[in-house]
Amino acid sequence: MNFKELALKRESCRDYSDASVSHELLEEIIATACLSPSACNSQPWKLIAAEGETAALLRPLVQACGRNKFAVNVPAFVAICETKAKLLPGVREDNQYFAQMDVGMVTLMLTLAASDAGLSTCILGCFNEEKIKEVLEIPNDAVLRLVVAVGYGKTDEPRKKVRKSANDVRSFNRW
Ligand SMILES: Cc1cc2nc3c(=O)[nH]c(=O)nc-3n(C[C@H](O)[C@H](O)[C@H](O)COP(=O)(O)O)c2cc1C
Repeated sequence: MNFKELALKRESCRDYSDASVSHELLEEIIATACLSPSACNSQPWKLIAAEGETAALLRPLVQACGRNKFAVNVPAFVAICETKAKLLPGVREDNQYFAQMDVGMVTLMLTLAASDAGLSTCILGCFNEEKIKEVLEIPNDAVLRLVVAVGYGKTDEPRKKVRKSANDVRSFNRW
């Protein structure tokens, strides 16, 4: 699979089989995700994999916003937290300025690594933040930004990508 094929393969999966995800595979995709770039290589993230009983505790909490009902049997989650960033002197006054972007990139890398490993994912931005922080014992100085559902999709057939047209999102030399 070349990169374009991988980019097309990665999609938000909302129909998971009951198959569990091995601990080793979770370790592997998180290690690959952490090769992601970050401002000043600050790596302002912590990725917490929830498996087994902890994943079971998270399932209702990612549905608590009234969405994500498909998460009833997701076997594993990775919570992506933003942590304190440290930029080089003179880069930006606010050390957290790039941190959300860095977290976005590590999240995308996680989903691509998962697709490459034959797993399916869905990035979730809607969940009961307070309760998930409690379950995962996330300290107050970390911000829970996203939760990624990880498992095996029931189908291997990728959906057709729905995207804005090229002319709407890019130009050359001028806006
Ligand atoms: C920051 C972010 C938050 C998202 N939150 C949710 C969510 O709570 N539930 C959901 O089903 N999909 C969620 N998605 C998935 C998007 O709906 C999806 O990426 C988009 O529709 C494009 O489809 P694709 O991922 O299949 O290519 C989220 C995606 C991102 C990047």
